[in-house]
Amino acid sequence: MPLLEIRDLHLHMRSFDGEAHVLNGINLTVERGEIWGIVGETGCGKSLTGLSVSRLVPTPPARYARGEILLEGENLLAATEARMRALRGRRIGMIFQDPTTNLNPVFRIGEQLTDVALHAGRGEPALLGLAPGASGGALRRAAREHALAMLEHVGIPNAAARMEDYPHQFSGGMRQRVLIAMALIGRPHLLIADEPTTALDVSVQAQILRLIHDLVREHNLGVLFITHNLGVVAQLCTHVAVMYAGNVVEAGPVRAVLKSPVHPYTRALLEALPRAGLARGALRGLAGTVPSLIAPPRGCRFASRCTRAEPACQEGAPPLDAVGEAHRVACFVAAREAA
Ligand SMILES: Nc1ncnc2c1ncn2[C@@H]1O[C@H](COP(=O)(O)OP(=O)(O)OP(=O)(O)O)[C@@H](O)[C@H]1O
Ligand SMILES: [Mg+2]
Repeated sequence: MPLLEIRDLHLHMRSFDGEAHVLNGINLTVERGEIWGIVGETGCGKSLTGLSVSRLVPTPPARYARGEILLEGENLLAATEARMRALRGRRIGMIFQDPTTNLNPVFRIGEQLTDVALHAGRGEPALLGLAPGASGGALRRAAREHALAMLEHVGIPNAAARMEDYPHQFSGGMRQRVLIAMALIGRPHLLIADEPTTALDVSVQAQILRLIHDLVREHNLGVLFITHNLGVVAQLCTHVAVMYAGNVVEAGPVRAVLKSPVHPYTRALLEALPRAGLARGALRGLAGTVPSLIAPPRGCRFASRCTRAEPACQEGAPPLDAVGEAHRVACFVAAREAA
């Protein structure tokens, strides 16, 4: 059974102008040990895909119109909020973009980590090495020990003393390490990281990527790594899903997709990279604009910007078809040429 399976996920978002079809049939399967880069231009639905798995998209204004999200076979769209609270942290760990919004400035680092460990330990005492029914005091002590061990594990020097610090006493890179510790404290199987290194300078970013890489190997995690940066994908990810206007347009092993992209959008993205290439690969804008998601075109959503579009591309949406070993593309033209 796959760790995560997103099947034909459609998310509509109510807005002043009408209902926007922001996710339009997302299909994605993640196994443990796989690190999936989710890339695409701003507004293409990367964050909403990650937030949907954590069920953190407010409904309303959002509405799941169709599809399933299966975590180890359990349909998350049918789960109660109580069940989701139990899964967040313990099956799904999350790291978001901006460290300053995730740590509370008025509580010590150690207290915040201990609280997360306590939450996880109450649901699953074995996580803290305790038997069911352990006393509150025992839970608290074990939670603090576990928090300290995690802080050491993510490479904070002198961790015992640093537990007493407040977030502002930590650098941006160290705060990001704390957030990674927090996400992993409940030993999740799936990690969702939304632009976790975007706010960091390049050398700190490299350290954090290495840390994530090592932790993923060590804990055999599956990862959704959301980023604008194809260089980061090339460095860290095993697989990549390229999104455009609420669709996955190309997906597969990172080597296949980045070395032999077949979707015209993926090709354009790679061509738009600066000459230094993948090493510095922030996405640049492409010519043209994304179609309205409120009245989306019937056919391929990329057709209006595509240099290879044919009349058939305006008629219907292309399915995600196999073009190689686990390499799939949603493009009539590319699929025909690969056949
Ligand atoms: N709360 C909301 N209400 C209305 N529309 C929203 C809301 N959140 C997201 N959207 C819309 O849904 C679409 C997808 O948004 P999402 O945040 O997933 O994009 P993204 O790919 O993560 O972009 P970025 O790279 O800028 O982070 C966008 O068009 C956005 O405007
Ligand atoms: Mg986003």
